[in-house]
Amino acid sequence: MPRGKFIVIEGLEGAGKSSAMACVKNFLTEHAIPHRQVREPGGTPMAEAIRALVKQPWMETVTAETELLLMYASRAQLVANVIEPSLAQGEWVIGDRHDLSSRAYQGGGRGIADEKLASLRQLVLGEFQPDLTLLLDIEPQRGLARAQARGDLDRIEQEELAFFKRTRQRYLSIAATDPTIQVIDANQDMAAVHRDLLQQLQRFMAQELN
Ligand code: TMP
Repeated sequence: MPRGKFIVIEGLEGAGKSSAMACVKNFLTEHAIPHRQVREPGGTPMAEAIRALVKQPWMETVTAETELLLMYASRAQLVANVIEPSLAQGEWVIGDRHDLSSRAYQGGGRGIADEKLASLRQLVLGEFQPDLTLLLDIEPQRGLARAQARGDLDRIEQEELAFFKRTRQRYLSIAATDPTIQVIDANQDMAAVHRDLLQQLQRFMAQELN
């Protein structure tokens, strides 16, 4: 049984990750590839409890380091209990966010230094990384307006616009140096975004089959 592939959808709030997840899921179903969906933070009972901690407002300062450690605690649980065993059994995994979110939000948005992030990443993940990341790039104002229209904003979504601008810049600067990350223009209408997603998935499949 060949090892499964790990595909991750990334992007700011309101970028359209849920509909992109559905699009990837349909694509894999059409190709008769066994797969499962996961999300971060979350995806195991303990990691879901961490998700609630991260999202709720607190009557105390939540330091950038606390936030970062919680993200990695959740990720450690998910990779060990769900992602690795699934991939080992030949199942593909579609992730709603992964490590790139920490590098963009905690690195770019919160300003945690790169070398600190890199040592934590090495401790938790070692060489583990997605086979393909699809980054839905959206202007922060547009994404936040969509998120606001959906309902109440969580603790992170309530950050100022400048935080999301820094996060987006970090997403894009990392993507520019990593060929496994494909940027998709999520400012387009949904049909165009899905067309671009499918194009990337077909390219990935063709490359994997060679
Ligand atoms: P969402 O995936 O439902 O949008 O919520 C997750 C929130 O957590 C979102 O605001 C992004 C943030 N986040 C980080 O800041 N760092 C991370 O490593 C991850 C996975 C998420």
